[in-house]
Amino acid sequence: MSFPISRPRRLRSSAALRDLVADTRLDVRDLVAPLFVREGIDAPQPIASLPGVVQHTRASLRQEVRALADLGVRAVILFGVPSIKDSIGSEAYNPEGIVQLSLRDLAEDVGDRMVLMADLCVDEYTEHGHCGVLDGPAGDPRTSVDNDATLDVYARIAVAQADAGAQVVAPSGMMDGQVGAIRAALDAAGHRQVAILAYSAKYASGLYGPFRDAVDCAIAGGGDRKAYQQDWRRGEREALLEVRADLAEGADMVMVKPALAYLDIIRAVKAEVDVPLAAYHVSGEYSMIKAAAANGWIDHDAVATEHLTAIKRAGADVILTYLTRWFAEAQQ
Ligand code: PBG
Repeated sequence: MSFPISRPRRLRSSAALRDLVADTRLDVRDLVAPLFVREGIDAPQPIASLPGVVQHTRASLRQEVRALADLGVRAVILFGVPSIKDSIGSEAYNPEGIVQLSLRDLAEDVGDRMVLMADLCVDEYTEHGHCGVLDGPAGDPRTSVDNDATLDVYARIAVAQADAGAQVVAPSGMMDGQVGAIRAALDAAGHRQVAILAYSAKYASGLYGPFRDAVDCAIAGGGDRKAYQQDWRRGEREALLEVRADLAEGADMVMVKPALAYLDIIRAVKAEVDVPLAAYHVSGEYSMIKAAAANGWIDHDAVATEHLTAIKRAGADVILTYLTRWFAEAQQ
């Protein structure tokens, strides 16, 4: 007597059958490529902790984005690395700042076939490295981020990015009221079409380490962002408070970040919202795959595909990932 083959098992018996019944299909059109552009360099600079990712010049960024468009990628999100930093991050709203100049380049090159997104924050632009304006001297333990003063800066950045051609602005600083302040500023400046992708549930994660090398935004004096980014010991109830607040203020899309350690949060947010949900597969998640693969400990392509598919399976409609170019090329 033999044990009957189970129904799920029967459907695993060939590659074609597995493809036919797959629930989750990753598509290049789901992905957003995060890209770094640095002021004042004349050749792209590698980022040691993010193998395969570079700080672009304006010219190399244009080439990269054209190549991505030709590979079928639909969206990019820009991060700027300015030459000059100050206490409030004013280069972030300078019309001649590196992100604004690059948005103009890209709008001209691919504006008709790609979504141009801009990360909206000041940590790359402040000399202290915080995501906002401080209410006292940097490094003093009594100093914290001044939420409302920061909103004024964010509003100016949003308008500068929209003026330069951003179709989506993505506030990542976790300030209270940031989505409402940005929406009001965009509308007042005549940018009613520009959408807001809110980094709504963003955790104070150790997985942002390589990103901080990429944009040189380590907090001066070794501080952290735990007073504004979420504590990962808290769960979906807190995440949903953040998401609902952003939706009430007018967020067009919401994001959970990082992704893999937060699949429970992705799933909970997906069940709650009726706007598109993004997840950010962050720098540390990417670098862990690259490092283990470089050691021959895991198969890069297998793990990268498994991870991105898991993020989509949990409920993400859109995935921001440094793997975008690799995935797009693998699909050709
Ligand atoms: C803040 C911002 C960060 C990331 C995206 N936007 C860094 C932080 O909050 O410390 C991290 C992205 C990554 O790790 O890939 N502007």
